[in-house]
Amino acid sequence: MKKALIFALGLLMLSCAPKGDTAAETASFDQLIHMRRSVRDFDSTKTVSEADVRSIIAAAQEAPSWTNSQPSRYYVALSKEKADAVREVIGDWNRKNTEGAPVFIVSTFVRGLSGFRRDGEPANEVGEGWGAYDNGLSDALLVLKARSMGYDTLIMGGRDADAIRGIFDIPEQETIMAVIALGCRASDPQRPARKPLDEILTIF
Ligand SMILES: Cc1cc2nc3c(=O)[nH]c(=O)nc-3n(C[C@H](O)[C@H](O)[C@H](O)COP(=O)(O)O)c2cc1C
Repeated sequence: MKKALIFALGLLMLSCAPKGDTAAETASFDQLIHMRRSVRDFDSTKTVSEADVRSIIAAAQEAPSWTNSQPSRYYVALSKEKADAVREVIGDWNRKNTEGAPVFIVSTFVRGLSGFRRDGEPANEVGEGWGAYDNGLSDALLVLKARSMGYDTLIMGGRDADAIRGIFDIPEQETIMAVIALGCRASDPQRPARKPLDEILTIF
């Protein structure tokens, strides 16, 4: 009994959330936006529980989507075996940067839903682009929710989509978008500079 208690306590201490990052947990929305960064140095001693993964994906699900078509799908490598399989197919740079990340989330969208009319025709010239748009909106909530819980993420477009499809048995009807590493930062990343606001904003 005592051994089991010590073991459970040890497991709790290994997770960086929900108690590990008080600054993130109490941050305002504006602070949270600035605290989220792409992390390329993960702490390999920290884990993420299934319950926390479920909370993060539930937040992503609240994103708006075309006619509420909810085209996004998520596949999560929670076991070490699956996470290692993902690490093998994201290229050398991403593999090196996610060495310590315990979890990978694959984000996809079902084609033919978002941006399509009931008769199956595209509603406008953007076509399947709306599916990618909706998926990006969901992923934005996902990474912010993760940060609010004290976790960190790295969105990766550099990945072998065919290999990812095989690892998770993802249906052909889904387009594979990002692989997102999830874990706890080992060091604080720099904020990459943003363009001047007036370069991206035109007000009439
Ligand atoms: C669609 C997309 C694909 C990305 N792919 C990669 C990637 O393969 N590897 C990587 O290290 N970072 C990747 N990033 C992270 C960007 O480099 C990062 O978001 C950007 O430099 C801004 O830094 P910040 O996220 O810390 O604000 C990607 C980001 C997005 C949104």
